[in-house]
Amino acid sequence: MHFWQTLREKRKVNGAPFFCVAPMADVTDPAFRRLIATYGKPASTRGDSSTRGGPDVMWTEFVSANGLMSAGREVLQRDLVYAEMERPIVAQLFSSDPEKMEQAARLCAELGFDGIDINMGCPDKTIEKQGAGAGMIKTPEVAVAIIAAAKRGAGTIPVSVKTRVGYNVADIDNWIALLLQQDIAALTVHARTRKELSKVPAHWGYIKQVVALRDKLAPQTVIIGNGDVTSLADGAAKAAASGCDGVMVGRALFGNPWFFDASRQITATLPKKSLLQKVPFIGKYIETKRSAAQSVSRPITVQERLQVMVEHTKLFEQLLGDVKSFSIMKKHYKAYCTGFAGAKELRMQLMDEAKNAADVEQITRQFLDNFLLQ
Ligand SMILES: Cc1cc2nc3c(=O)[nH]c(=O)nc-3n(C[C@H](O)[C@H](O)[C@H](O)COP(=O)(O)O)c2cc1C
Repeated sequence: MHFWQTLREKRKVNGAPFFCVAPMADVTDPAFRRLIATYGKPASTRGDSSTRGGPDVMWTEFVSANGLMSAGREVLQRDLVYAEMERPIVAQLFSSDPEKMEQAARLCAELGFDGIDINMGCPDKTIEKQGAGAGMIKTPEVAVAIIAAAKRGAGTIPVSVKTRVGYNVADIDNWIALLLQQDIAALTVHARTRKELSKVPAHWGYIKQVVALRDKLAPQTVIIGNGDVTSLADGAAKAAASGCDGVMVGRALFGNPWFFDASRQITATLPKKSLLQKVPFIGKYIETKRSAAQSVSRPITVQERLQVMVEHTKLFEQLLGDVKSFSIMKKHYKAYCTGFAGAKELRMQLMDEAKNAADVEQITRQFLDNFLLQ
């Protein structure tokens, strides 16, 4: 039994969906995934190597199968670096060339991935021009050949697909049905069309239709719903209403590697006075927020959030600094530095002045010393 089936069985027994980290290019890279694995689980289980991080499944960012098989493969392979604590981890590939897909899937199996996922939903024009991503929806015969090729390369590793409900309009009866007929281990459905991008609310009613079709055509395939999940409770409610087995979370993870730890919640304040050496705070604003924070079991304070932002930057530099631009980190700063007094100023300073992890650490420390803790 592969891990998808194990997760589905668990879902049947305890009634709760499993949760996946969405693939997000230049966001869920090896550095951010490691943070999610570290902070995503309750502190009581952290440090125990037998327990994995909070989410049930991790995904890599999408990687070009053609690129992986080209001379430039070394840089791309860095997107496929993962830590044991991230398991089960799925490598996501895209290509419209069956031969390259087969070879890349074989490589991912050799690298020890738990699953291979094929991207059939990316709306990026450069990907679509290659006939890959959402472009696959327009060429179902190529999609079928690509799935077969990935399976040949993957060997015993399960192959899954991530797609949208259709290209210009939802086409569940044709497009989703075709995918379900390919005997894939799992299917993630982003509940929007290619045309809708992420501009309209996800239509979770479509996920319910996909589940009904799965029951008819491919009872063995695991269904994962995706789109606009904002919290664990929201994901559980969406899964209950649609009947999907698992839920995938994307943008709600920005600036929040604690997402999967239900006992933690981001607050706009510093820790309790008694936990700090340097006090007091700046006026009534912090006082008010502090009272609110005390009602959360273990609030994530501004100080902790900023410390993790620095840790994130150091990990990025350590794991990817030689192959990726530091500017990639900047979208994370926007997400970490929000919702507290002085956030905008800190964010602007990081955007304008920081060039490496040392700068980020120094600017953040200065902010905490001069602004929050004076
Ligand atoms: C910055 C960014 C990068 C993304 N990169 C990928 C990707 O590499 N592969 C993929 O299948 N989807 C990608 N997506 C789509 C997400 O996986 C997900 O389907 C989408 O964000 C909807 O989920 P959400 O509403 O929870 O964010 C990306 C989304 C964002 C915002």
